[in-house]
Amino acid sequence: MPLMQETRLSFEEVKPLIGARVQADKLALLSGAHTADVMELLEQRGVLVFPQADLSEEELISFTGTLGDYASDASDGSATRISIDPATSSNADFTRVSFFWHFDGYMNEVPIRGSIMCAKVLSSSGGITEFCNTYAAWDELPEERKRQISGLKAVHSHAAAAMSLEPEPSHERFREWLTVKNGTLPLVWTHRSGRKSLVIGNTAAGIVGMDPMEGMELLVWLRDWATRERFRYSHEWSVGDMVMWDNTGTLHRVTPYPADSGRLMLRTKLAGEEPIV
Ligand SMILES: [Fe+2]
Repeated sequence: MPLMQETRLSFEEVKPLIGARVQADKLALLSGAHTADVMELLEQRGVLVFPQADLSEEELISFTGTLGDYASDASDGSATRISIDPATSSNADFTRVSFFWHFDGYMNEVPIRGSIMCAKVLSSSGGITEFCNTYAAWDELPEERKRQISGLKAVHSHAAAAMSLEPEPSHERFREWLTVKNGTLPLVWTHRSGRKSLVIGNTAAGIVGMDPMEGMELLVWLRDWATRERFRYSHEWSVGDMVMWDNTGTLHRVTPYPADSGRLMLRTKLAGEEPIV
């Protein structure tokens, strides 16, 4: 129908198994005209890039609200400032664990659906955000591996992620990390849609009921598999770019950059819709 044609989202696939580059008018995005298409494309492609979308903080929040429930980190509803510079972010230490593959919110009963991030200031080195498609990684697993991991659960802990940056913490520091709740999550998420994805990342500390080293070896194998080139997209930012990712079917990380580089991203989150089962 002509009306449908007018509101169709224009996009191109970035790689066969992940990513889409979306061309859309800012006003149309903010009006909600593309909401259904954006959410469908996000489910299919894992990562959506809106080159040079150039949204202000208010516009980013408004756009997020057109897609679902905006889950703000701040009591005043502002967007989150992502920085590893303690002078800019009170959460800088926590943010540095994003140098390693993870998904957001393992500790929440319902992890966030997705995130939307806008580049405001870039680092002159590093700072590339990478994503991998954990639906595709599951789909292509050898059948024997699928049988092996179906039904297994992993223990997730912030401490496991933090140890990768600070391998010999003081006991006090370690106990601080443990104040972030642990989680026990299935390795394979069977979504309401019937699709399956892998649930792994730097917070996975071990496999329930398995020898610690065997469990670690399995987690390393799965991370190595899921982050292979064919499942992965690396976004080299330009100021003004907006990138949205499906937190329920991807992992992400950022390549390290200097804390004093000035790099600043604005990020909003979409509230989750289903628990990991
Ligand atoms: Fe993250």
